[in-house]
Amino acid sequence: MTEEILRVRGLRKSFPGVVALDGVDFALRPGEVHVLLGENGAGKSTLIKALSGAHRPDEGTIEVDGREVRIRSAQDAEALGIATIYQEFNLVPELTVAENLFLGRPPRRFGLVDRRAMNAAAATCWRGWASRPSRPTGWRGSASPAARWWRSRRRSAWTPAS
Ligand SMILES: Nc1ncnc2c1ncn2[C@@H]1O[C@H](COP(=O)(O)OP(=O)(O)OP(=O)(O)O)[C@@H](O)[C@H]1O
Ligand SMILES: [Mg+2]
Repeated sequence: MTEEILRVRGLRKSFPGVVALDGVDFALRPGEVHVLLGENGAGKSTLIKALSGAHRPDEGTIEVDGREVRIRSAQDAEALGIATIYQEFNLVPELTVAENLFLGRPPRRFGLVDRRAMNAAAATCWRGWASRPSRPTGWRGSASPAARWWRSRRRSAWTPAS
């Protein structure tokens, strides 16, 4: 049996007056696609937020690649390979493609953001994609909501080599 890359055991999370998650068990193996389905308020977002570092579970454990982890921030989640694509856009329209891709983790040289390295690395992330994107230094400002959503997917699906 293929090894689990993610395992959630007995996850519990309550907010004042409501138990959002109670005894959630979940496992994910490489290549699997799951759909989390439930009525409004069922706890879907709370589970995803617990996995992405936005919420601390009250009880239960999360294991990544068989090792128990504590996910305290979005950075922790990203470092573990957990990327979240929120319904809301998570791009900064004022920044370029490259700046968005490297948001919070830009390559540095002598303490300053290394724009040349950042743009060069960003350009490599489009290789193999069917649709041709704009230049790494492009995108500032206007784009349709659909285009912006698609770009946030790309940001989440791609991790810059560090
Ligand atoms: N930050 C919070 N503070 C207090 N209660 C919260 C908070 N976040 C979620 N809840 C409550 O926890 C329960 C689960 O909410 P959650 O947002 O996880 O549900 P959901 O399945 O994502 O619903 P929806 O389909 O509406 O997105 C709900 O009763 C909600 O009101
Ligand atoms: Mg939700």
